[in-house]
Amino acid sequence: MSEIGLANDPARMRHGSNIGQPMTRREGVLKVTGAATFAADNHPPGLLYAVLATATVARGRLAALDEAAARAHPGVVEVMTTANRPLLAMDPDAKTNPFMFRLDLLQNDRVRYAGQPVAVVVAETLEAATEGAALLRPRFEAEPARTSLDAAESFVPETVGAGNPADAAKGDVEAGLAAAGHTVDATYETPAQYHNAMEPHGVVARWDGDRLHLDMPTQALAMAQQRVAGLFGIAPGDIHIRSPYLGGGFGSKGFPAGPQILGILAARLTGRPVKLVLRRDQMYGPVGHRGPTRQHIRLGLAPDGALTAIDNRTRTASSTFDDFFEPAADVAHTLYASPAIRTAHEAVRLDTGTPLFMRAPGEASGSAALESAIDEAAEAAGMDPLAFRLRNYAEAEPISGKPFSSKALRACYERGAERFGWAGRPPEPRAMRDEAGRLLGWGMGTATFPALMFQAKARATLRADGTALLETGAHDMGQGAWTALAQIAADAVGLEFGRVEFRAGTSDLPDAGIAGGSGHTATAGTALHAAGAAVIARLAELATADERSPLFGAGNVGTLARDGRLVRRDDPSRGEDFAAILARAGLNTLEAEGQAAADPAAQEAYAMHAHGAVFAEVSVDPDLGQIRVTRLVGAFAAGRVVNPRMVESQLFGGMIWGLSFALHENAVVDRRSGRVMNADLAEYRIPVNADVPPMEAILVHEDDPHVNALGIKGVGEIGITGTAGAIANAVRHATGRRIRRFPIGLADLV
Ligand code: MOS
Repeated sequence: MSEIGLANDPARMRHGSNIGQPMTRREGVLKVTGAATFAADNHPPGLLYAVLATATVARGRLAALDEAAARAHPGVVEVMTTANRPLLAMDPDAKTNPFMFRLDLLQNDRVRYAGQPVAVVVAETLEAATEGAALLRPRFEAEPARTSLDAAESFVPETVGAGNPADAAKGDVEAGLAAAGHTVDATYETPAQYHNAMEPHGVVARWDGDRLHLDMPTQALAMAQQRVAGLFGIAPGDIHIRSPYLGGGFGSKGFPAGPQILGILAARLTGRPVKLVLRRDQMYGPVGHRGPTRQHIRLGLAPDGALTAIDNRTRTASSTFDDFFEPAADVAHTLYASPAIRTAHEAVRLDTGTPLFMRAPGEASGSAALESAIDEAAEAAGMDPLAFRLRNYAEAEPISGKPFSSKALRACYERGAERFGWAGRPPEPRAMRDEAGRLLGWGMGTATFPALMFQAKARATLRADGTALLETGAHDMGQGAWTALAQIAADAVGLEFGRVEFRAGTSDLPDAGIAGGSGHTATAGTALHAAGAAVIARLAELATADERSPLFGAGNVGTLARDGRLVRRDDPSRGEDFAAILARAGLNTLEAEGQAAADPAAQEAYAMHAHGAVFAEVSVDPDLGQIRVTRLVGAFAAGRVVNPRMVESQLFGGMIWGLSFALHENAVVDRRSGRVMNADLAEYRIPVNADVPPMEAILVHEDDPHVNALGIKGVGEIGITGTAGAIANAVRHATGRRIRRFPIGLADLV
């Protein structure tokens, strides 16, 4: 789409250097004018509307439904229950790989969590479907709900997170603690947090015989295709998914959620297209959440402040029917040098929906606790928190001993501290006040997130008119991937930004893998880079073998693509336009594919992580205990910056979520019913503009020759890490109070 280039400053469009430019979002105008078509904006002819009826108890069975009352409503077309739900080719409770999460698709009358779908009402209008769902008045036989980390017997899960070992160790932690001059021994608690992407999960499903058309937001088109294909017993290629825009995903749209499959089933049952969109309160159950943690951390310190042991034993929760465990302890593998490290997880089963991936799963809650503990350790050692972190700086990855592929954390500390003014921090708590008499405190935290690579494919096509088409089924959750990837695409074929059409967001394009793990730009970008290089190599073969080309015989010295021309590497004044080469070869288009995957040798040799340092200032009203974050400065090193504007926005978003983690978010469960009591955006508190202080995100230069061909790490998740701990530490510095349970509120301080 040629509008890509128009919103941007042509002076920036230098050849071969789209990467690194602060281009504006290619779809930004479409989004702010309402012209961007999100999944629920689709209205195929004959569309019906589906609304869920959900469980109001957390455990038990569905005893009765007033189905006749709902069917009697004049607008209601169908009521889907366990009795008439179309057959599936696969049991929704089957699990053939760890990432196939069990779904609630009306398979029986069991209730496993509050908010579980128990029926679907399909009607001619949304209003009729909503009324029909209310008329169902589901009744339940309830059993006592298990809702507390204390309530159930614990066990050690096989793995935590995405297949990490539940236990890991190096050295002798008990010996390290015994030899220590000081120890920190404290328990930190983080709550369950629920997904509240601006766009709730939804689907517009349309069957065409056994072919299926879906408008459905997803972070992983090909995986969604596979999952739906398995459930319905059709070929993945017979499922076409469009997901051009997402209003946020944050992990919750990594896999199709049960309600989306119910929408597809309702379309099957009625023989008409169906739209099903979750209400905000229906997000609190079937779409995953961040599991709660209780982290018992022990640190040992030598007299000089060197860590002698790091121990994190985390208790967390999963559902009664599936397995996902927040890998909170694991961040201790990465951050600080210590001769002995141990991380262990134990879990309990609660009557909730299955916890799943949520932005920095593990690292967010783990670093909130660890960075608080490190601050406690610095205080015990009588050291400045930054000096203490530098004293324990890890030159190699602590638990594996591997060298880092790159690590500019020291520069992050320096740049962030300088910008924040950290050197002026008085060591004692309660030593600073603002002009209104409020206590001020300064705290810091280290940020880290792995640099991951997944698998992706891309296609590059040069066209006779001198433009190019680059394609990969990538996903823009709002993070700016379409823009950043289009920049990489343009550089990959040596064309200016405006002459490259970039297509993404549908399942008929080459598989771009998953927009998750902060690895999407790195992975899909590497595939685009490879596809561009491959098509330019084909073009060079044509030209250098052709006596009529000024590049004839240049095969030995090589060629370069720049600004739509192929030129000799040794003499860039000699070359010709892409279009001329194609024309002489009689070609309208020239095409090649490229792929990306992790390099096993590099993975074996190096530890790969992004790093950062976050500095926070809080003010605390000494009488009321009201906490405000008044300043946030983060400095981050995450390899090559593809687009500094997008990267800064991603880091701001992460830091704001860190603030939310520290002071706001908390899913409050009614112990009697097992229901989340604050399942709406009025009472599930997230920061609003008035809560967000002036922020800075400093991008620290970092070259990484090992992570991938482009040297890109990732910035989607790192901003949330470090920030919550920094704010907790600032509260301690302001008030002298150490609060070890998140979120921190005024009730903790008065
Ligand atoms: Mo992220 S939690 O890998 O979408």
